[in-house]
Amino acid sequence: MRILSGIQPSGVLHIGNYFGMMRPAIALQAEGEAFYFIADYHALTSLRDPKALRENSRRVALDFLACGLDPERGALFMQSDVPQVTELAWILSTVAPMGLLERSHSYKDKLARGVPASAGLFNYPVLMAADVLIYDSDIVPVGKDQKQHLEMTRDLAGKMNEAFGEIFKLPEPRIHAATEVVPGIDGQKMSKSYGNTIDIFGDEKETRRRVMSIVTDSTPMEAPKDPSTSTIFQLYSLFASKNETEEMRERFQKGGTGYGDFKKEFFEKLWEFFAPMRKRRGEILADKSYIDNVLAHGAKRANAVADQVMKRVRSAVGL
Ligand code: ADP
Ligand code: TRP
Repeated sequence: MRILSGIQPSGVLHIGNYFGMMRPAIALQAEGEAFYFIADYHALTSLRDPKALRENSRRVALDFLACGLDPERGALFMQSDVPQVTELAWILSTVAPMGLLERSHSYKDKLARGVPASAGLFNYPVLMAADVLIYDSDIVPVGKDQKQHLEMTRDLAGKMNEAFGEIFKLPEPRIHAATEVVPGIDGQKMSKSYGNTIDIFGDEKETRRRVMSIVTDSTPMEAPKDPSTSTIFQLYSLFASKNETEEMRERFQKGGTGYGDFKKEFFEKLWEFFAPMRKRRGEILADKSYIDNVLAHGAKRANAVADQVMKRVRSAVGL
């Protein structure tokens, strides 16, 4: 079974990325052959700063490895180290209905946020479909916001199979209900583009500051509080054990503890949770060639599979 996922190097990784995509992806390594990549071609749709793109890409590789991605079990690589994927994207684009792409939520959201409406941005889902199909992927762990992209991937695979015979497997998305939308410090979906993130490897002072600025209602300290609507409680429960979560729920409902104290407890939990990963990150950074070696090895494995699948595709379509 092959598991595949990608993450754009469009900024610094946050705990929404961690619980929505990275942790499930890391856990799935035990179940099959994992192929995880840094979607730098995709990031070009929103980032036009070569230095930032290079730095972010390296940092995503570093952070992913620090969080437990095992390069012996799976492959970690840069999307652009397998340029065949853009050839497949072209072929897929010839069967992709305009109407399908026009219904893309993420395209509309990005335009609304002021991302320039380029043909690349419009074709984003086609390139993503190529990413998935070129590795004969079975399972794709992602957060809920990527669900529609995977439906499009399945549609495009189906269209190709109809037109040219059985070329592609239909991949299954894997979306975890409990962590499908991690809230940001303002209570909306945590996202780089909303400026409401808590970063996985932020420095201590800044991380504390972000936690202390989680938006709350104005219930006074003594009064009972509703855990189900509290961002602090929702975030805390991602990090805490069942018992710890229940204990905090009771203290919310009882009253007598202010939001400031709950935030401090959440900060401590979060800081402790990522401590082993911070340590691992330091070790990786100390080994200058480690990341380059991992990425080169990953690219080799990914290229081997992509070459085979592209042979099949070229032959099926008549190239
Ligand atoms: P961002 O919204 O910060 O730009 P990306 O779109 O780069 O994040 O997302 C990378 C991966 O992390 C995707 O699989 C996405 O579904 C997941 N993800 C991002 N934010 C969240 C969140 N708040 N909750 C759950 N998953 C998330
Ligand atoms: N679009 C995904 C995101 O923004 C990143 C991505 C690109 C991806 N190609 C992929 C995810 C293939 C899974 C599979 O998060």
